[in-house]
Amino acid sequence: MTPDPVPLCDILAQYRTLKGEIDAAVLRVLGSGQAILGPEVAAFEKEAAVYCGAAYGIGCGSGTDALVLALRALGVGPGDEVIVPPFTFFATASSVSRVGARPVFADIDPVTFNIDPAQIEAKITSRTRAVMPVHLFGQCCDMAPIQRIAESQGIYVIEDAAQSFGAEYEGTRCGTLGAISCFSFYPTKNLSTLGDAGLVTTDNPDWAKKLQALRVHGSEVKYYHKYLGYNMRLDAIHAAILRVKLPHVSGWLNKREQAAARYDEFIERQHLSGFIRRPVTRPDRRHVFNQYVIQVPPAHRDLLVQHLKANGVGVEVYYPLALHQQECFRDLDYRAGDFPASEEATRTVLALPMFPEITAAQQDRVVSVCAGYLRQRLRSAA
Ligand SMILES: Cc1ncc(COP(=O)(O)O)c(C=O)c1O
Repeated sequence: MTPDPVPLCDILAQYRTLKGEIDAAVLRVLGSGQAILGPEVAAFEKEAAVYCGAAYGIGCGSGTDALVLALRALGVGPGDEVIVPPFTFFATASSVSRVGARPVFADIDPVTFNIDPAQIEAKITSRTRAVMPVHLFGQCCDMAPIQRIAESQGIYVIEDAAQSFGAEYEGTRCGTLGAISCFSFYPTKNLSTLGDAGLVTTDNPDWAKKLQALRVHGSEVKYYHKYLGYNMRLDAIHAAILRVKLPHVSGWLNKREQAAARYDEFIERQHLSGFIRRPVTRPDRRHVFNQYVIQVPPAHRDLLVQHLKANGVGVEVYYPLALHQQECFRDLDYRAGDFPASEEATRTVLALPMFPEITAAQQDRVVSVCAGYLRQRLRSAA
């Protein structure tokens, strides 16, 4: 009998647990006739901002929208440069291009996969307006040196916290570690809905007001357009679902941390630590493991992916190509070899199944399949 597959992420697990409450919340919105923005969105914005410790929360259509809104609120546009890592999800850099500015890449720290503060300063020019650290996979960037550089150079820090709702740096949750912070509630995120949704947080009342206007076609008063804004509104159904889930998030993050510790233990127990490099959590941070990303030697990575998939284990490579090597960014004139740490990461990383409800038995199976791969390779090499 073949064992049950282990999914990369069980998107419906939370819906199964909270079905009664979520169904009731959705029905409440359907009956209200208020489909977009309105009281449900306002309540979620307030509750989510409180969770993040921020003064203001502005709901929007997605994490990508959040990044575009943040850049526009800070006045970033044509002729400006924004420093971003090349090893991240596409939207980090595409949002910069979409507002007419130029993404300037700075390489990552190969241990945490996050932007390396030591690489930032050399990229700053008279055109630099902001740096956009991405808290990748659930761990915050090293924010103190980034904030110091930004302050001394007079540039803004925009947190791309799309993958890291609830993550902490020196005891402070992300959401207030920059001028403006951006979150995604895409279905695989730590706080998620069954659709697209996002949030921007800030402590600055003027930026909050501008963000609110930008997401509704740039108008503070209906049909009067102060800015060239967008339709980037948050739907009430998603806000209602997110409100049901928000009180459970802390418990889910604890479970993710426990699951990560179990993976660490199983990898050690199977004597795989010479082959698999486990994720590293810096002591001053709370890693909330949106992904549990291991590294294996490049010659084995794709073969291990195939082996895991063939054995019913859901895996994913985040990300197989760094952003400076993407076709659509060819005009930025970067070359292979420009960012060695990012390029090495694209050859070695592999995300194992990770979600709060994952069981020890499922994780044991994932690690056993990895061990089986290595045994097979060693046998065929002998
Ligand atoms: C680092 C990062 N930034 C931005 C985004 C964009 O978020 P969304 O998919 O909600 O637009 C994502 C989503 O995966 C992400 O991982």
